[in-house]
Amino acid sequence: MFRIFGRSGASFAVRFGQFWALNARPRNFVQPRGFATSQMLRQKPKSSFSVSQLLKDINSDPKKRKILAISLFTLYFLSGIAGFRYLSDTKYKATGDENPYKKVDSEGNIIDAAEIKVIEGHDTTPVYNRLAREYDDKIWLEEITSYIWYMRRKLMKYVKGDALEVSCGTGRNLKYLNPKKVSSITFLDSSLPMLEVTQEKFAQKFANFENVQFVQGRAENLVDLTAKSHQKFDTVYESFGLCSHEDPNKALDNMKKLVRPGGRIVLLEHGRGYFESMNERMDRQAASRAEEWGCRWNLDIGKIVADSGLEVEKETRFHFGTIFFYVLKVPKDLK
Ligand SMILES: C[S@@+](CC[C@H](N)C(=O)[O-])C[C@H]1O[C@@H](n2cnc3c(N)ncnc32)[C@H](O)[C@@H]1O
Repeated sequence: MFRIFGRSGASFAVRFGQFWALNARPRNFVQPRGFATSQMLRQKPKSSFSVSQLLKDINSDPKKRKILAISLFTLYFLSGIAGFRYLSDTKYKATGDENPYKKVDSEGNIIDAAEIKVIEGHDTTPVYNRLAREYDDKIWLEEITSYIWYMRRKLMKYVKGDALEVSCGTGRNLKYLNPKKVSSITFLDSSLPMLEVTQEKFAQKFANFENVQFVQGRAENLVDLTAKSHQKFDTVYESFGLCSHEDPNKALDNMKKLVRPGGRIVLLEHGRGYFESMNERMDRQAASRAEEWGCRWNLDIGKIVADSGLEVEKETRFHFGTIFFYVLKVPKDLK
């Protein structure tokens, strides 16, 4: 925290010190009769920066006007090139023509992203076992700046009754859980260290909520895991989990089997987006992404949902279509 806000924190501290010193009075200070509070003491430090002043300065100085005009034109020009490259990538991908912007490897061969595509499904648990204790520190800033917190809040509004969170990770959705709406809650994750973090957070935040269970297990085995208890749920939800499963289709199929009539499956996932140029980039980086984060970020989530046979009650896409929000129900509920 200090490392990030060190400079501005220090300048804020100095400012606050100045302000306090100028406004502070001794405890036994007696206002002399007939005198207003000393203007000198009450004066606040003047702000050294003002946007309107800056604009006035620029406007009145032809040299500064020229610098501003050149900077704005450069910005416009560079964003134009970036936009053109982006759209060309998409066009070449769509038409199948040779793409002059495609990267070449060290031997001059064109790297064909289409050949890389999605990597083979595999058990990602060891990656998360390793990441568990640093996971939150690694992603909190990205989640704030990319509004993931808002999407998590949206997801959690649907959670009610007997709830099951699949791939709960470190419990990042707990912040938005309304315990008054749930009668029981089950957390499942294949990684014990990740599950332990959820358990610790839950104990801290909802100490009096007793109807909770933490299960280490794979989403692909969900049906077997509940075979003895015959447990069913009103809400089955998952965030950023399908990308980490060895077999996301089977995982979703299991969720479908465990949801009660009238219940809902709510998903917040990430995968291939609307733009081919973006997808190509994700394809290229798929292997390193999987190695570092354990997930396959270029999965076609829309197809997985379509193949599940679940009825889409609500679908929202964010971030150029790379983030998927789904409210799903079992088709017979419609009749
Ligand atoms: C990207 S993290 C997401 C964690 C959490 N849902 C969130 O939104 O922050 C993926 C999680 O899926 C878990 N996971 C991976 N494969 C799994 C599987 N087959 N069954 C259940 N959980 C799995 C990992 O241990 C990890 O906690």
